[in-house]
Amino acid sequence: RLPASVRVVEVGARDGLQNEKTVVDTAKKIEFINRLSGTGLRTIEATAFVSPKWVPQMGDHKEVMAGIDRRQGVTYPVLVPNLKGYEAARAAGATEVNIFTAATESFCQKNINCSIDESFDRFRPIFEHAAADGIRVRGSCSVVLGCPYEGAMEPSQVVPVVRRLLEAGCYEVSLGDTLGVGTAGHADRLLQALSAEGLPFERLAMHCHDTYGQALANILTALQYGIAVIDSSTAGLGGCPYCKGALGNVATEDVLYMLHGLGIHTGVDLDGVIDAGAFMSEVLGRPSVSRAAKALLTK
Ligand code: HMG
Ligand code: MG
Repeated sequence: RLPASVRVVEVGARDGLQNEKTVVDTAKKIEFINRLSGTGLRTIEATAFVSPKWVPQMGDHKEVMAGIDRRQGVTYPVLVPNLKGYEAARAAGATEVNIFTAATESFCQKNINCSIDESFDRFRPIFEHAAADGIRVRGSCSVVLGCPYEGAMEPSQVVPVVRRLLEAGCYEVSLGDTLGVGTAGHADRLLQALSAEGLPFERLAMHCHDTYGQALANILTALQYGIAVIDSSTAGLGGCPYCKGALGNVATEDVLYMLHGLGIHTGVDLDGVIDAGAFMSEVLGRPSVSRAAKALLTK
């Protein structure tokens, strides 16, 4: 049985733009987020409070947070890797932060320069401060299906990290197929294992990159397990600087087209997202990779 409604978490302004060769102009990022804010999306990941030496594309995090028009009913979470990032995010007015770790030691090292255990040591003070500050903490676990350094993942490697993020206090944990290599059968095995361990599917989200064109199939598999939160990126922007070969996230337009076709309520206006995607595609000087956007724009 599929969920009756799904919350789409838009990650284009963060996951999408963090991997661009050129740093996108701050004003264009702000305009992109403002356009997305008018589409009915309830969650729009705005930026990342990570080191600008590591990811210069997100170096204007403070200015982005100060520049966007925050709509009532829309949350603008930001990525934070440590307390320093958390404090900067809070000072910039973030009401939700997204901590991130990985299912493999090698990816964790390459991405955030620490072991999985150390990443949780860094998260502990974030949870303490966030509880006092009334800031919600979401978690992301990367490379849940495949790792660029360690290959295909066994569910048994992933389940403990997801459980740990939930138990540490994340209100929701996003399962990241960072490399975009997983197939529906593999996703099914992971979800089966998470289910067998009794993990709460109402607190899980799916985050698929679409490198191999498998994202929608993997998302449909997740929906069948009752997952009702899907991360996606307008125009299919994205990739991770520490995940060579990974393409963008599944396009929000394609996800909406599928969800609406399934009769699942999202509250998001597909045409509005297509417009925002067309805007950013023009800024980047290349066409959107969303199949639904392309088809609907040429109809
Ligand atoms: P480090 O070098 O180990 O950190 O980096 P450090 O604590 O030793 O500090 C080194 C320097 O960085 C110091 O500055 C700190 O002040 C500064 P210096 O003294 O050299 O001038 N620093 C910071 N500056 C700004 N903001 C901060 C911060 N922390 C330290 N928060 C660190 C560790 C985590 C900072 C680094 O590895 C980093 O920034 N990594 C970025 C990782 C990243 O953004 N990856 C992409 C996003 S994750 C993703 O895309 C996956 C996801 O989409 C899900 C999926 O697809 O699976 C979420
Ligand atoms: Mg990602």
